[in-house]
Amino acid sequence: MRKLVYYIASTLDGFIAGPDGSDPTGPGGFWPIPEDYLAHIIAEYPETLPAPARAALSVTGESKRFDTVIEGRRTYEIGLKADITDAYPHLRHLVVTRTLSESPDPAVELVPGDPVAKVRELKGETGGTAGDGGAAGGPKDIWLIGGGELAGALYGEIDELIIKLSPLTAGNGIPLFSPGAAFDPRRWELTDHTVLKSGAAFLTYARATGA
Ligand SMILES: NC(=O)c1ccc[n+]([C@@H]2O[C@H](COP(=O)([O-])OP(=O)(O)OC[C@H]3O[C@@H](n4cnc5c(N)ncnc54)[C@H](OP(=O)(O)O)[C@@H]3O)[C@@H](O)[C@H]2O)c1
Repeated sequence: MRKLVYYIASTLDGFIAGPDGSDPTGPGGFWPIPEDYLAHIIAEYPETLPAPARAALSVTGESKRFDTVIEGRRTYEIGLKADITDAYPHLRHLVVTRTLSESPDPAVELVPGDPVAKVRELKGETGGTAGDGGAAGGPKDIWLIGGGELAGALYGEIDELIIKLSPLTAGNGIPLFSPGAAFDPRRWELTDHTVLKSGAAFLTYARATGA
């Protein structure tokens, strides 16, 4: 069965953005993107770059790991504010929201109801193409972009974490999981890691068996 993977950039103190909810890597943002970090993403996770970045960097390769992306409305709105209605036209794109009633883009599917039910439905799908993240003949995995609130709602459904850990602390901000998420400790097994010269680390954890 395909997995739900929370692939997310985090500070050392567990924040994914500053308290104001803006894009921390955007213009004027506090989050530096070192060259080796970007090169690793291009090599290993090219589909996770938004379309304007793919165009600017001439990234045209096939998706390696994901064919579907799901994000919370507040994260989606960061693109909307820049007039980007679909930052991931190369992926099936879903946005979870209780407030948007009409999708700003025909290729973007709104999820108005329970995101857990939707993710279970997506996990159960069997169509698609084989890829690094999918079983032969099956679909690739589902990328949970975030933000923290949606990740909190989907906490129990996450099969794998890929934490892009930056050598940075924020002191405060939006955490990996919403502070409103239930207290439910889980164990994770480190299955892959890459530490870059810039000090960033890509850490992959699978949910421990029985966790
Ligand atoms: N570091 C990274 O890699 C990374 C990645 C993604 C995002 N971010 C950052 O994360 C921040 C946004 O995160 P956030 O936690 O504020 O918001 P978010 O999770 O992106 O979006 C929250 C919204 O999603 C909808 N939602 C969430 N859970 C729901 C549920 N159970 N049922 C129905 N709808 C639900 C609601 O939309 P409605 O209000 O429309 O109902 C809610 O207001 C931004 O600053 C962004 O830059 C960072």
